[in-house]
Amino acid sequence: MEKSNLIWLNGEFVNWEDANVSVMSHTLHYGTGVFEGIRARDSKIGTTIFRLPDHVNRLFDSAEAYNLKIPYDKEIITSAIKDSVHLNNLSSAYIRPLVFFGEGEMGLLPKSVPVYVSVAAWNWGAYLGDDAGNQGVRVCISKWKRISPQSFKPTAKGVGGYMNSTLAKVDAVEKGYDDAIMLGDNDVVAEGSGQNLFLIKNGKVYTPPIETGALGGITRKTVIEIASNLGLETEETNINEEQLKDADELFFTGTATEVVGVVSIDNQDIANGKPGEITGNIRQKYLEIVNGENEDFLHYLTLVK
Ligand SMILES: Cc1ncc(COP(=O)(O)O)c(C=O)c1O
Repeated sequence: MEKSNLIWLNGEFVNWEDANVSVMSHTLHYGTGVFEGIRARDSKIGTTIFRLPDHVNRLFDSAEAYNLKIPYDKEIITSAIKDSVHLNNLSSAYIRPLVFFGEGEMGLLPKSVPVYVSVAAWNWGAYLGDDAGNQGVRVCISKWKRISPQSFKPTAKGVGGYMNSTLAKVDAVEKGYDDAIMLGDNDVVAEGSGQNLFLIKNGKVYTPPIETGALGGITRKTVIEIASNLGLETEETNINEEQLKDADELFFTGTATEVVGVVSIDNQDIANGKPGEITGNIRQKYLEIVNGENEDFLHYLTLVK
């Protein structure tokens, strides 16, 4: 990790090395935190953050879903996010706000436990590697099922849920794949280990509904809008493993991942084993939008200063 100088912790910026918490923090023991993953880019109009209000709203919604009362309002968190980029002199960055329970009473009931918030920003390149955008990624169907929405809240980005994602990612990489696709209840396709998934068949776009356990991704929402602008209809529908392998095109979406073609599953090529044309068009539009090169989508960009 390429460290920056400062991290915002509980209302003020401190040196990266001083942004520490007790080993008795509730979240460290029980996974009871929530977080966001946001990107700032050196865009055509300056250093900008993509869909910042959506990320802040999801952070607050996630916190509420897991009973964390954030002791700051949205305006303060928004400023902390923007300042974490600006004060670290970053022209592009990955930004990680984290809301967590600190040290208080031990036990599952988070009683008399303080809620802490940190915001870190640092330089982080392509999540699935520099070649992923052009060449696509090779994935497996994970042996690990996505946690059932009956057991957790998929619309919330909860720390503990990522133990499930980590199992899938580690297993995939150990087997030589770039990432994994996870199936949910009844073996319907849910998403990647840290990405949403889209399928294209006969010129139509499909994506699993969030009821499968997939996160309500902000890139997912953006891609549905891009597809519509390209004259493509998107249907949120259950997809099974057979339909997945029979797709014309598949691609992952996420803030860290961006838009990346999935070119094989379990070593079986999807179509010709290359990122598809529609995937390429959507990826190009997405990159134009996040880089401030599309006038129609400038309202999604917030200048950090
Ligand atoms: C499990 C999971 N699904 C999907 C996504 C994509 O969401 P977004 O587009 O909001 O980054 C992420 C990344 O945050 C994720 O961790």
